[in-house]
Amino acid sequence: MNPLSSSSICSIVIISILVSNSVLLCIGGKTSIYVRKAEKSVEMPLHSDVFQAPSGYNAPQQVHITQGDHIGKAVIVSWVTQDEPRSNTVVYWSENSKEKKKAMGKVYTYKFYNYTSGYIHHCTIRNLEYDTKYYYVVGDRNSMRKFWFTTPPEVGPDVPYTFGIMGDLGQTYASNLTLTHYEKNPLNGQAVLFVGDLSYADNHPNHDNVRWDTWARFVERSVAYQPWIWTAGNHEIDFAPEIGETKPFKPYTHRYHVPYRASQSTAPFWYSIKRASTYIIVLSSYSAYGKYTPQNQWLEQELPKVNRSETPWLIVLMHSPWYNSYSYHYMEGETMRVMYEPWFVEHKVDIVLSGHVHAYERSERISNVAYNIVNGICSPVKDQSAPIYITIGDGGNIEGLANNMTEPQPEYSAYREASFGHAIFDIKNRTHAHYSWHRNHDGYAVEADSMWFFNRFWNPVDESSR
Ligand SMILES: [Fe+2]
Repeated sequence: MNPLSSSSICSIVIISILVSNSVLLCIGGKTSIYVRKAEKSVEMPLHSDVFQAPSGYNAPQQVHITQGDHIGKAVIVSWVTQDEPRSNTVVYWSENSKEKKKAMGKVYTYKFYNYTSGYIHHCTIRNLEYDTKYYYVVGDRNSMRKFWFTTPPEVGPDVPYTFGIMGDLGQTYASNLTLTHYEKNPLNGQAVLFVGDLSYADNHPNHDNVRWDTWARFVERSVAYQPWIWTAGNHEIDFAPEIGETKPFKPYTHRYHVPYRASQSTAPFWYSIKRASTYIIVLSSYSAYGKYTPQNQWLEQELPKVNRSETPWLIVLMHSPWYNSYSYHYMEGETMRVMYEPWFVEHKVDIVLSGHVHAYERSERISNVAYNIVNGICSPVKDQSAPIYITIGDGGNIEGLANNMTEPQPEYSAYREASFGHAIFDIKNRTHAHYSWHRNHDGYAVEADSMWFFNRFWNPVDESSR
């Protein structure tokens, strides 16, 4: 005899459906069980070895390079001399030819409140051969310094290339650990996609610009040898009307030149480059981006130019994330998302990299473009034409970790963890790229989060494991 009546069976079925549905509704992605020991983020003191200037009269310091044109055949070499403006040439030669060539740069200085910069040199070396190691020398007869870099392979759809990804680096002991982990990562990043917030000089009284100098000396050990692709963050704004500094981005634009004109941009805050099999679009969260603004017009014209048969991988960098389930900077990226997300979905952007939030998060492929203010459809939905959003503002800056998350973890959030670290985007061919995030507290080769990216144009298969 069945002890359960048909009505009670019915109730049990209904209850179990409700329970299972509620579980389904609540399941987000993974919040890492790894909880980093709470430590204060302390800036390295000015006398730290990583900040020491090279010896010698007028010795070039703060040497850094970035891509110098749209296609990867030019490099901008930048450095600072403290004693005099002389030393504005770069002598360079390829490993193969040994024939020495010379390029002339320009010298800039700026004042910021009671700080006067050294002589900032920017020199673009053009017409380089692809996939070639070059040596270069900066400085004059008093004190010369020699470095080297390797140009990317010719732009093409199946060219493997490995990017490092860092953001919100600053100059604390944790920042030093992040950079060291990136340098020692056996995956060997060939260029860095930097998602903004460099020195955090503005956290000091009067935005002490000496901290811009120390930061540039600190990262020279990497960025003198491989290009870092720059994005402007809020700590680059340096807007300080209380001390008479009313022009935003003054230190950043004097110190970090980017090839924005090569992509028909009218300002250094938004631009694009092609590198190997990638098309990289850099946007500015802190420049006007609404309808009719220069950035908006530029992006609208830029996206249709991307030829996925030439550069299959479409990567966007911006500082402020659009999808962020931490309680810090919550929805700061929302207005830009409303403006640009439909374009990203239409043009099948592969990956959007952001910083700003001092933690790590990776999203599912989702979009939230249906909302029109009256229909109430305001939740992100799975969308295989949408990018994966990665927040990687976890370089280790002075402001410390963001460890306060919204609960429950939203469904769109695939993985999140409040740790410092860096990531590697390792492109294999037009269809596959391996992505990995490496927290500082592990060994150099440990992947705390990883996934295979399937290219949205050539191989738009669902990568999610759920
Ligand atoms: Fe930021």
